[in-house]
Amino acid sequence: MCPDFDEVARRKELKQVEWRRIRRNKDADLLETVEEVFDRRTVMALYGLINKGVIEGMKGVVKAGKESRIYLAGGMNGEDLAIKIYLTSSMEFKKSMLQYIQGDPRFKIGHDYRRIVNTWAQKEFKNLTEATRAGVPVPRPIHVEENILIMEFLGEDGVPSPILKEIPKQYLYLGMYEEIIKSADRLYRVGNLIHADLSEYNVMVHNGKTYLIDFGQAVPREHPMAEEFLRRDIGNIIRFFDKAGIGVPDVEEVLKWMKRT
Ligand SMILES: Nc1ncnc2c1ncn2[C@@H]1O[C@H](COP(=O)(O)OP(=O)(O)OP(=O)(O)O)[C@@H](O)[C@H]1O
Ligand SMILES: [Mg+2]
Repeated sequence: MCPDFDEVARRKELKQVEWRRIRRNKDADLLETVEEVFDRRTVMALYGLINKGVIEGMKGVVKAGKESRIYLAGGMNGEDLAIKIYLTSSMEFKKSMLQYIQGDPRFKIGHDYRRIVNTWAQKEFKNLTEATRAGVPVPRPIHVEENILIMEFLGEDGVPSPILKEIPKQYLYLGMYEEIIKSADRLYRVGNLIHADLSEYNVMVHNGKTYLIDFGQAVPREHPMAEEFLRRDIGNIIRFFDKAGIGVPDVEEVLKWMKRT
């Protein structure tokens, strides 16, 4: 079938207009480096977020992981935002994420990998939203699109606050442990969720308060492996504080308390 000539011209013109808007953007440099890491669809979605005014621009990389990258971005009111972009190329990630999506009735698995990665970003956004609603301290979720998640930036002057693992031993104290366990408990009992990757790597210490982060793999209590994930989460936190010489209760005692009626 021969495409309508006018339609072809219109699309071409639209593309040029789009391109001009992108070029005009002062963040073109950063987006160019982003282009080397991410596929075209991700880059277009980022352009879209800037054009729609969700973000004002990209400011730099915060952390580059195997499965995702965290960028610092500027919001429309001059505030700092964190942008988590899931990589669409990690095969290992694909295998590991399936066990968390399967068994979660809130999500259906798509066939192509791109759709699975997008589902993962949606899942993290939804989990953050539910955690926020339950009153658990987490970065406030702002927007999700394709494989891109935008949330509150925990840090100052573009520098992220430390994760628990980075806090020197002498600054760790029992109250910090209690705060994290209370957050996990609230997430479980009020938010109906289990973090499922809780450890000293996924807690940030910001303005003297602990925040749980990295919610992609969190599952509802109905998940077939929920109990196993919960025991592992609590165990990780207890082990970390125990190693630092802080007297903490044992895992079974905490789990029993979390199941109180
Ligand atoms: N909202 C935020 N504000 C500031 N920094 C953040 C925020 N979220 C994450 N970070 C930083 O980015 C790092 C990675 O984030 P996160 O744990 O969500 O990703 P990840 O999936 O674990 O990445 P990885 O591939 O390294 O495992 C965190 O350890 C933290 O330093
Ligand atoms: Mg993490």
